[in-house]
Amino acid sequence: MSPETQESQKKYTYIQSDIGKGKGVYISTYGCQMNVNDTERMYALLDMVNYTPVTTPEEASLILVNSCSIREKPVHKVYSEVGHYRKLKEKNPELRIGVGGCVGSQEKENLIKNQPIIDFVFGTDNIDELPSLVMKSLETDLQGLRPSEKEKFVEAGFKHRAPYHVETLITNPGVAAFVNITKGCDNFCSFCVVPYTRGREKSRPLKDILEDVQKLIARGVKEVTLLGQNVNSYKSDCGADLADLLETLATQTTLLRIRFTTSHPKDFNQKLVDVMYRNQPQVCEYVHLPFQAGSSRVLSAMNRGYTRDEYREKIAMIKKAIPNVVLSTDIIVGFPGETEEEFQETLSLLEEIEFETIFAFSYSSRPMTKAARMPGHLSEEIKSERLSRLFAKHEAFAFEKAKKYEGQILDVLVENWDEQRKVLTGRSSQNKVVHIEGGTQSLVGSVVKAKITSAKPATLRGTLEGVTS
Ligand code: SAH
Ligand code: SF4
Ligand code: F3S
Repeated sequence: MSPETQESQKKYTYIQSDIGKGKGVYISTYGCQMNVNDTERMYALLDMVNYTPVTTPEEASLILVNSCSIREKPVHKVYSEVGHYRKLKEKNPELRIGVGGCVGSQEKENLIKNQPIIDFVFGTDNIDELPSLVMKSLETDLQGLRPSEKEKFVEAGFKHRAPYHVETLITNPGVAAFVNITKGCDNFCSFCVVPYTRGREKSRPLKDILEDVQKLIARGVKEVTLLGQNVNSYKSDCGADLADLLETLATQTTLLRIRFTTSHPKDFNQKLVDVMYRNQPQVCEYVHLPFQAGSSRVLSAMNRGYTRDEYREKIAMIKKAIPNVVLSTDIIVGFPGETEEEFQETLSLLEEIEFETIFAFSYSSRPMTKAARMPGHLSEEIKSERLSRLFAKHEAFAFEKAKKYEGQILDVLVENWDEQRKVLTGRSSQNKVVHIEGGTQSLVGSVVKAKITSAKPATLRGTLEGVTS
């Protein structure tokens, strides 16, 4: 067990066991940053019972699939991945296969019914029980059962009434870490499955987050990204909101950078913008603000809680306070009933705001959601044709926009060193990935000045000009 997790184990009553001694665990991760963070947590919890992370399923005695249910055939993706492990399971009956994440929460026992090589299923609210679930699954071996008789089980209920206390667990933190501040979502956008797979929204107390971040800083972390499905509705038990949390972290810790995602336009307010401005450079000049659709009628059918003009006003408010802000967004094309004219409104909003980065998706019908039952579902052809037009429109200005970085000097927090290419990689305050020549490994964890020599929408290249902090 690593010293870091020993420390965490003191505070938590996780089980004491060495069931993982001499065994490897492999986790494949789908979906959003929340799942990426949950995978870190799973590795850390399994480290406490002495499992070692491995990089291929072939080396593993425990394989976990941390699934995502947001779009397109998520259940099939799980079955198809798990199907690949059939041979491994035949060779090694002790191999355990568990499915967690949002498909686990949603499909529960159906997963085991349809794919019997899955040993257990666990939900997004059951991650901390993972070591005991693995133990329970292994007990069936001790009882001398044949593979077909082994007990399969599901642990995927929401703990609606339990308070939300989750210290960040990371086995080997790097320069930047994710910290959950809220979980779940109560917005019920009509297209979205998350409220059903992550449960009701809850916030962590501010003092827990502060303590958590101080511990991460002591382990070398310089940047945190505060995570939640809708971080703007964060509310601590002491009454603090996201703006108060940002200010507390910026003024009471030595963090060099603070980011937060995902923001919801309806809850993005002037107080938050003022705090972002006051607390630069720690609070980064970057906002990810999904608009989803450019038509107010579609936005209303999506239950997003804002109109096209209200969205534009929020952007104007942000740009006014933070002129160098870089904006990114999420967009859905082909929502049920979306007309060509309504899609044109999405294109025009994209062009007007000139987002540097977009994440755009073709609408996908999800179980349990209101939109799934709406009339006017569009064909795959129409949706994918609209999506291509959207990407083409974005590319047309994104390359041009990226050129503005050429010749600029940016402050970059260095996260990695590539020994072979002798290149440092980090991100600017505006979340631009920058590859820098002329540095050394000792600069990992520092903010350096990089002169940009070439710029594409996704990455910038530059040379080292100096060190800031
Ligand atoms: N909580 C965040 C995003 C969660 S999911 C927010 O409110 O913005 C990430 C993105 O996936 C969404 O912003 C949306 O653009 C997309 N998405 C969600 N459900 C979808 C669906 N059914 N079909 C297509 N895209 C979807
Ligand atoms: Fe889904 Fe809407 Fe919640 Fe985001 S805010 S997770 S899109 S329901
Ligand atoms: Fe996917 Fe669940 Fe995240 S559905 S996008 S992993 S919250």
